[in-house]
Amino acid sequence: MKDAKNYVDKHQERFLNELIDLLKIPSISADKSYRDDVFNTADAVAERLKEAGCDTVEVCETPGYPIVYGEKLIDKNLPTILVYGHYDVQPPDPLNLWDSAPFEPVIKKTDLHPEGAIFARGACDDKGQMYMHVKALEYMTQNDDLPCNVKFMIEGEEEVGSENLGWFISRNQTKLANDVILISDTGMIAKDTPSITTGLRGLSYVEVEVTGPNRDLHSGLYGGAVANPINVLTKMIASLHDEDNHITIPGFYDDVEELSSDERNKMAEAPFSLENYQKALDIESVYGEVGYTTNERNSIRPTLDVNGIWGGYIGEGAKTVIASKAFAKISMRLVPDQDWKKITDLFKTHFESIAPKGVRVKVTPHHGGQAYVTPIDHIGYKAAEKAYEKTFGKTPIPQRSGGSIPIVSLFEKELNSKTILMGFGLDSDAIHSPNEHFGIWNFLKGIETIPHFYHEFTKLKSEEK
Ligand code: BES
Ligand code: MN
Ligand code: MN
Repeated sequence: MKDAKNYVDKHQERFLNELIDLLKIPSISADKSYRDDVFNTADAVAERLKEAGCDTVEVCETPGYPIVYGEKLIDKNLPTILVYGHYDVQPPDPLNLWDSAPFEPVIKKTDLHPEGAIFARGACDDKGQMYMHVKALEYMTQNDDLPCNVKFMIEGEEEVGSENLGWFISRNQTKLANDVILISDTGMIAKDTPSITTGLRGLSYVEVEVTGPNRDLHSGLYGGAVANPINVLTKMIASLHDEDNHITIPGFYDDVEELSSDERNKMAEAPFSLENYQKALDIESVYGEVGYTTNERNSIRPTLDVNGIWGGYIGEGAKTVIASKAFAKISMRLVPDQDWKKITDLFKTHFESIAPKGVRVKVTPHHGGQAYVTPIDHIGYKAAEKAYEKTFGKTPIPQRSGGSIPIVSLFEKELNSKTILMGFGLDSDAIHSPNEHFGIWNFLKGIETIPHFYHEFTKLKSEEK
């Protein structure tokens, strides 16, 4: 392979400016009022893929937001890498907690990013990480250093459950055929500790509604005599964990993959400081399921969390009222072998069964997906390992993540290929939070590392034959 670092150094300013332009478009998939912006972002990504050297680029319509597809096929006897990413972003709320406007990117230095970081919604998740792949392609095509075929599939609905991606994949299996899928939409342990994500948790996301009396009531005239939906809902939610923080839904743990003590010991070798973890979050202590370490709790164990809860009066001052309804949004992170549809059913049955007389409960499932594991003896993993060794001078550590990219397990089922997760973000980059950012060093290092993956994978694949 030629020298990607040189090219990246030379063009870094332009790369950053191009990313900044992309970050200015508020492609919030969850909020319909940004519909035009989401479509415009798809067009912008398509344009960039063309410029970077794709021979064919299409903005593929779906019943929802479009999927940008691009390809550069150089030789059908060579392997094909399929790059997946997403151009949609999370809503920036709460806006008042941002130090700068979420869609007016600014570069600022931080303790962990002394070279500077770009602050904007989507900087790390996933526009910045997706764009590393576009620029890596530009390097390879501009320097005659592309060793294999490449396909890009960049979607606009990841943050809302990838509803139409399954639809698209099932209709385009030949077009999307590949030898390995490559994604940068996760993180790494630290700048001096490269890691490869080997697992993603599954997800079941539900919304619950508790209805009491048919209208809001005076809390003095009726208080004590009728079920208060908010009191009831919070009590029901509290009962979903026992005193050891195990989840109480019958059958919830039935299919959970149990790791051997060997595997758990191996996990515990990854560098981790509980003290720094607590300090970074300003908490006196961590909290979670008894019998598991922090890193186990957030990766190999399933969870149940309320993501939002509302009802009644939340305006200024006091209003004495018993609300007719109370609501909550609940996510369950799942681990290998748990079936997300089965878990959704178990939740629904259990939640309805614990409702006291005097209220009605409605459970509405949103989206979900299966957990995923990359085997570390796969040649894609080996190629990634070698790529990091080249640019970081260190062997990366395999690490399961607690986050979810539900579509990855579907890729395996529909396209029959494994996914390699080369993430370059840091946990402190605040994805989904106010002040999301992405280190410039990480962005450039990613662009430099990705071409090595292409070369190592092509080499390993040819040796396999
Ligand atoms: N990129 C994240 C997932 C992620 C981040 C995995 C960091 C591992 C490490 C992705 O965009 C995301 O936010 N996924 C959602 C699920 C989706 C169905 C909304 C999540 O994990 O909450
Ligand atoms: Mn993402
Ligand atoms: Mn996300």
